[in-house]
Amino acid sequence: MQFDTPITLALSKGRIFRETLPLLAHAGITPADDPETSRKLILETNQPQVKLVIIRATDVPTYVQHGAADVGVSGKDVLMEHGGEGLYEPLDLGIARCRLMVAGVKGAQTGAGRLRIATKYVNSAQRYFAAQGKQVEIIKLYGSMELAPLIGLSDLIVDLVESGNTLKANGLEPLEHICDISSRLVVNKASWKMKHPSIMSLIGAMREAVDAGSATN
Ligand code: PRP
Repeated sequence: MQFDTPITLALSKGRIFRETLPLLAHAGITPADDPETSRKLILETNQPQVKLVIIRATDVPTYVQHGAADVGVSGKDVLMEHGGEGLYEPLDLGIARCRLMVAGVKGAQTGAGRLRIATKYVNSAQRYFAAQGKQVEIIKLYGSMELAPLIGLSDLIVDLVESGNTLKANGLEPLEHICDISSRLVVNKASWKMKHPSIMSLIGAMREAVDAGSATN
């Protein structure tokens, strides 16, 4: 596949980058550098018109919303916090799967009084508890949420759970399932119109790779 319009793709390092690589390869895109070993933030690819920008996962929707990147790969957790303004979300890539959950110490009360919830996912937590008619106080943290109930900062946490090992290692347990999470392809709304053929080809090729992958899993 050959791209005839410039396309900038926003990705975060780590798992999302690693799991997106085979999907990009199926679209004929191979990065010239590895972000794990290179400090470069803009990566050229084998396609002269396609470049990758390597940014924090939480910044991906912002870059795409403002058109600094045409396309991005972002976790649904991040998109739910961002709100999705200015973005289309045409494809579930089925990668970086986990669950957004309420967790607490074993036997924690989840219904009584005004609960204190420590989380990085303020909007998702707020929406979840509001939908249940529960009064909560949200305490915004940036990481290591598991610590909060252990030292009395909060009653419960809202966090991502994959294997459950982090909860277990800290004597916590999953209590309520909020939603399943996976990474999504997001597209800037103006790019969608202006670069339609290239973006459709990219989505089509990535969709094929996702379908082929899920057929063999
Ligand atoms: C995530 C999440 C949990 C952990 C869950 O943290 O916040 O702490 O992974 O995984 P597990 O169920 O397999 O143990 P991450 O390592 O992504 O770091 P973060 O604190 O920056 O979110």
